[in-house]
Amino acid sequence: MAEKQMNLGVIGIGVGASEMLPRMESAEFINLYAGADINPDVRKRFGERYPEAKVYDSAEAMVEDPNVDCVWISTPNMYHAPMTILAAEHGKHVVVEKPMALDIEQAEAMVAACDKAGVKLIAGHTQSFGPHIRLMRQIVNSGRLGALGAINVFAYTDWMIRPRTWEELDPAQGGGLVYRQVPHQIDSIRSIGGGKLRSARGTFGQWMSTRPIPGYYSVYMEFESGVPAIAVHNGYGYFVASELVPWGDANTRYTPEERNEIKRQMREGTRKEAEEKLSMRIGGEAERQLFRTDRGPRKWKPNDLGIIIVSCERGELRESPNGIYLYDDDGMRELKLDADSQNRDAELREMYNAVHLGKPVYHSGHWGMATLEVALAINESAKTHKDVILTHQVEMPAGYDEEYKVVVAEEVQISG
Ligand SMILES: NC(=O)c1ccc[n+]([C@@H]2O[C@H](COP(=O)([O-])OP(=O)(O)OC[C@H]3O[C@@H](n4cnc5c(N)ncnc54)[C@H](O)[C@@H]3O)[C@@H](O)[C@H]2O)c1
Repeated sequence: MAEKQMNLGVIGIGVGASEMLPRMESAEFINLYAGADINPDVRKRFGERYPEAKVYDSAEAMVEDPNVDCVWISTPNMYHAPMTILAAEHGKHVVVEKPMALDIEQAEAMVAACDKAGVKLIAGHTQSFGPHIRLMRQIVNSGRLGALGAINVFAYTDWMIRPRTWEELDPAQGGGLVYRQVPHQIDSIRSIGGGKLRSARGTFGQWMSTRPIPGYYSVYMEFESGVPAIAVHNGYGYFVASELVPWGDANTRYTPEERNEIKRQMREGTRKEAEEKLSMRIGGEAERQLFRTDRGPRKWKPNDLGIIIVSCERGELRESPNGIYLYDDDGMRELKLDADSQNRDAELREMYNAVHLGKPVYHSGHWGMATLEVALAINESAKTHKDVILTHQVEMPAGYDEEYKVVVAEEVQISG
């Protein structure tokens, strides 16, 4: 039992927040104290689900509430910086959704505002906090497979055909796959490889006339040690990577038939996109199916992060149905994780530990800025066709592996 609960206020109760609400409800150290949104339907649904909670119609109103300890900012990307600064100026700790900001200047201003106010800032790039990534990092750092050789991650998803708002369709406001999905992949790569990249060269593709935003990117990076890393994401939804694992299938959010139908409606201009989006937010039918249906412990399938393969001197690591596969000179093993460790409450726990237990913040503003730098480098080198030398990189602080250690429940020999 936590000594004290942290009063959390969620600003922007959309799809991303709806995905996190179940963790906010179940984390014993969190009191889901308030929600703020400009959309009256969303506010009504939030109030109905959480009758005890305060409901505000703006971030400005929420931060005036002296009982809010910490805010979770999940508004559209262009609000991340101004709302973080606003919250810090009112003495609130901040978890900010990905991407942290639209440019380095904004990110620096966020860090400065939080430092000045003495509040904690966490760059909440969810997937890299996951137990698979932490376990891969811990095995690499243990030296069990020898020196790290390379990290490759590739995602094939239906990201581009999910319902979108106007801001999500404007790259100047942080719209598109590069801003939105680089944080998951690059944060994970940096976490496994230590944190400090030296250079990045990437490009993006924008291939769908009905979606004037990047829907594909690829990027080649090198760590300071010279270790290479490659990240690819194709969000156009013709092929999804979950087809590549024997326990997977072609369905992500939509069946293949639904994906074709959505694309047809987009071409013909008949899609009811705003309704679909609202359905995925709090209290909607799609939200119920996607985020609130208890399916018990689920097998891992390639999702928006994609398939990560970590190559070391004496072996490889990749995700498995119940944890990770480890390949070495003794064959192939599955390192199974507890069902509990699938829980995505690590960002909240890191904030609680920092605020109430005086522990370090690991996914700090500087950490988030270093990941953002790679997204910006992809955009830059897509124009210049040159490597971008990175200058804002930081290491994962010492102590992270010990503090957020992943317990392997069982190690099962598969072959060899
Ligand atoms: N970590 C993840 O896995 C994950 C998943 C999805 C989205 N996200 C992030 O969440 C953010 C929102 O994306 P989304 O898909 O939830 O979009 P969304 O449109 O569903 O949600 C945004 C919400 O913010 C509200 N809003 C807009 N402007 C506001 C303002 N000025 N003040 C208060 N509320 C405001 C909207 O009404 C909406 O309810 C993005 O930054 C995205 O990258 C993260």
